[in-house]
Amino acid sequence: MKITVIGGGYVGLTTGICFSYVGHDVDIVEKDHARFSALELGKLPIYEPGLDDLLQKSRSRITFSNKVNRALLNGSELIVIAVGTPPKDDGDADLTFLHAAVEEVISYLDRSAQAVVAIKSTVPVGTNDMLAEKFGLILAGHRVQFVSNPEFLREGHAVYDTLYPDRIVVGARDRDAVGVLREAYGPILQRSFVKPDFITDGTEKDLPYFIVTTPKSAELVKYASNAFLALKISYINEIAMLCEKVGANVRDVALGMGTDSRIGRSFLNAGIGWGGSCFPKDTSALIRTSEKHGSELSIVRAAVKVNDNMKDYFVKNVESTLGDLQGKTVAVLGLSFKPNTDDVRDSPAMELVDRLVKKGAVVKATDPIAIENARKVLPESDKVIYEEDVYKALEDVDCVLITTEWPHWSKLNFERMARIVRQKLIFDGRNCLDKELLEGLGFFYKGVGR
Ligand code: UDX
Repeated sequence: MKITVIGGGYVGLTTGICFSYVGHDVDIVEKDHARFSALELGKLPIYEPGLDDLLQKSRSRITFSNKVNRALLNGSELIVIAVGTPPKDDGDADLTFLHAAVEEVISYLDRSAQAVVAIKSTVPVGTNDMLAEKFGLILAGHRVQFVSNPEFLREGHAVYDTLYPDRIVVGARDRDAVGVLREAYGPILQRSFVKPDFITDGTEKDLPYFIVTTPKSAELVKYASNAFLALKISYINEIAMLCEKVGANVRDVALGMGTDSRIGRSFLNAGIGWGGSCFPKDTSALIRTSEKHGSELSIVRAAVKVNDNMKDYFVKNVESTLGDLQGKTVAVLGLSFKPNTDDVRDSPAMELVDRLVKKGAVVKATDPIAIENARKVLPESDKVIYEEDVYKALEDVDCVLITTEWPHWSKLNFERMARIVRQKLIFDGRNCLDKELLEGLGFFYKGVGR
């Protein structure tokens, strides 16, 4: 099948490259000059494990364009829109890029075109219907259909999530359009592609569900899923704070809860809170949608509030042991919003660095891959020092904060760490280090809820 993907961000690139890997001919349109130049040279402008491997294996079936290619577009049976929908100040999703992309596609489509336009960008409920109405007149006579096809991939696991999804959700008004999506996802639905070498686990999982519904329901599936995951984390974080008060261990509580198959073990890791490019923006957008429709959605509001409180709570914990942070030097280990990504968008770690600096601390921050992006958000200064070498970041600090659970941290040489820090204090905001081991080396260790 021939497919055009508009937008070469995380979602567009992963979708486009995976579609080509499973056998389709794909053109990915990316307008940003720097990103496009990198792609043209066969280099990925994002860090995503395994994606480069798939790109190299699919080179013959994939092209990159810096503007819509009329011939390729008109030859495409499926056009996937995967442009950003960032939050506006009021929390609403900003659809400027989406409208521009759709308008451009429409302007390039010949009257004889027969295409399905799948909206993969996360868009508020009603957007697909609005697009159909807005462009319905222009499209009269064309066989063009808008379909909602939300994306559920996680950064850091994007290839796995795309090739081995739990479900494909399609919101469509037209049966033929559903058929086009079913065909595009055919190799993924039947798992008929060659398993990439770097994927080692979980491939025995059940084949994906193919869920067909209305555009509005499909749009809501995406928001409702992300908000549910966010509130699951906020719930365990609130239980973690209770654990501290009553003297229980949240890791054991989460295990005891999560082994109930109705609850499930995942997204019950307590810590400094959720961040990233999806949960914060999607919970805000869902709350805005509920406001517009006179519904309260109090449970999502509570999840957001708990999440905001986690950073205060963590800093207060540090202050209660270390005292006034003015003039103290603090090592911050981890800047990305989670491991296996260089993405620092809405990262709780970055928020913490900012708060510590505002309280007068000097922060020595490190991360295996996110320093370059972190510098763009919080430039280096006499208060924020970025260190590529984790041991340099640990030298002469008054305390160590673990803010992203990179596997690197549990492999550190803790004897060496004990020798080079000024004070042996560790605040593990991700509960990823061995408490007993550290206490055995004379560290004061404080996790979240344990
Ligand atoms: C999320 C959704 O999982 C994905 O389906 C959707 O398409 C996009 O949004 P992503 O933002 O890449 O994916 O990251 P995810 O792995 O879900 O983590 C989000 C945040 O929650 C991170 O800050 C992470 O550290 C935090 N988290 C996750 C926890 O604090 N505890 C957990 O148990 C799980």
